[in-house]
Amino acid sequence: MRIIVIWLLLLLPYYFPGYPISSCMGNQIDNLNRLIAARRSSNPPRSELWARLDDLGNSHDSPVFERSQKGLMQADKIDTLPGQPGGVDFDQYAGYVTVDPVPDRALFYYFVESSVDSLNKPLVLWLNGGPGCSSFGIGAMQELGPFRVNSDGKTLYRNEYAWNTVANVLFLESPAGVGFSYSKNSSDYTDVGDKRTAEDSYVFLLNWLERFPQYKTRDLFITGESYAGHYVPQLASYILSRNKGTNQTVINLKGIAIGNAWIDDDICTKGLFDYLWTHALNSDETNEGINKYCDFASENLVTNITVEQCDKYQNQGLMEMGDIDLYGIYAPICNRSAIKPDSNGNVLNFDPCAGVHVESYLNLAEVQAALHAKATKWSGCGDVGWTDSPSSTLPQIRELAKVISVWIYSGDTDGRVPVTSSRYAIKSLQLPVETAWQPWYSDSEVGGYVVGYKGVVFTTVRGAGHTVPSYKPARVLTMITSFLQGKLPPGHPSS
Ligand SMILES: *[C@@H]1O[C@H](CO)[C@@H](O)[C@H](O)[C@H]1NC(C)=O
Ligand SMILES: *[C@@H]1O[C@H](CO)[C@@H](O)[C@H](O)[C@H]1NC(C)=O
Ligand SMILES: *[C@@H]1O[C@H](CO)[C@@H](O)[C@H](O)[C@H]1NC(C)=O
Ligand SMILES: *[C@@H]1O[C@H](CO)[C@@H](O)[C@H](O)[C@H]1NC(C)=O
Repeated sequence: MRIIVIWLLLLLPYYFPGYPISSCMGNQIDNLNRLIAARRSSNPPRSELWARLDDLGNSHDSPVFERSQKGLMQADKIDTLPGQPGGVDFDQYAGYVTVDPVPDRALFYYFVESSVDSLNKPLVLWLNGGPGCSSFGIGAMQELGPFRVNSDGKTLYRNEYAWNTVANVLFLESPAGVGFSYSKNSSDYTDVGDKRTAEDSYVFLLNWLERFPQYKTRDLFITGESYAGHYVPQLASYILSRNKGTNQTVINLKGIAIGNAWIDDDICTKGLFDYLWTHALNSDETNEGINKYCDFASENLVTNITVEQCDKYQNQGLMEMGDIDLYGIYAPICNRSAIKPDSNGNVLNFDPCAGVHVESYLNLAEVQAALHAKATKWSGCGDVGWTDSPSSTLPQIRELAKVISVWIYSGDTDGRVPVTSSRYAIKSLQLPVETAWQPWYSDSEVGGYVVGYKGVVFTTVRGAGHTVPSYKPARVLTMITSFLQGKLPPGHPSS
């Protein structure tokens, strides 16, 4: 039952010929749609893996690939990025870390140190979702990194609200097949999933910490969005389990934060349709039909009649909302033929065509050389075959909340993995409220709302869509700064 809807979303571009889903930032979602659709195919992704945190623990002493990283940090240092603006006051690095030497699988990273007092700032790992989308091209270049790409596709402008103002930020393209990350064994591109993504990311981190040994004992926070609602809790669980091994660098993991995160198939899908109705994008009749015929909680109770009816009403709901950007329901949509190549970007003006500019920029030969990347056709989302994915990461989130800081945040104008989905997911954890729902402030305005549960903090970011920092960079920086400092986002400035 849970699968039914999302493949309809996949069809959306065909219903609306002008729909810009693949041109801009919908790519993370295209891949998610494909994965969800695969659940009802004759060869669905395996979901039994990762069922419990304990499952990961039984091999925590098995050897992990590590090799000498001497001299590689200096080799990875970026001189300057083509088209970079003046006044850059922080160091940048990019390169590959081998995660499997035979026949050679390597993950690409981009690392920006903090512009202020980097030695005393934590390390933040950022992961985009998909599955199969680039944390560098989307996360760094369109959301929270220090630069964004101008509409000429050749020059960069500063993001004054970059997260490296408050942390040292590491962007990882994972798994192999995504962005510049590669494998010499092509079956790595067709047989990959949540499990290998977490394992490879862990091997990456261990070796990266050898390359940058000054970060070995630094506080680490893992953050991400969308399908990273899988990656982040899974990697965090894996690290904690591996930390129990006696033979390994202990990674100093302090917390995770996941934004507009795909956490649970059933809950996220129910949240999507409730959001469409409560945001005046769907009719009463459609919503009543969905509530009557769709059983989000159980596949077993569903008869064929109700499946058909549920399908019908969900399809109707997607048609009724019209040609809008579901990932930021009040935002403009990208019109490629209206791009003016000579206009300078400004981080405070949301650019629906940002993905187009990034794709041009990252495919320039001089840019790939400056990044120490292998010459390749770069794209935002890789065509990777996803063969394992549990339908929920709530079991891991529940366990993590007992030992590290867990924040779940949500841009409240995203209709694809909306705030309702996040709230239903948290509600199902049945955690007691410790700090009541309240507004938090950024630049003297309400930045969003926060509620503190036992072990989990939930915050909204007001007015932000799916890729939260590309819509509301200042607000999300205020929020993430609080997260890194272990306190709730600030209250009213006068109080
Ligand atoms: C533990 O580390 C040592 C030295 O690096 C290595 O020789 C040994 O194989 C490791 N043992 C395991 C179980 O990984
Ligand atoms: C490529 O990967 C597959 C699946 O893991 C494995 O069976 C095969 O041996 C690998 N090939 C090489 C050349 O390593
Ligand atoms: C649903 O349809 C399938 C195939 O169309 C059939 O095998 C199955 O028995 C039906 N189930 C019910 C409850 O009608
Ligand atoms: C896209 O931009 C072109 C050129 O400005 C314009 O003619 C066209 O109407 C626009 N299309 C949409 C759907 O806005």
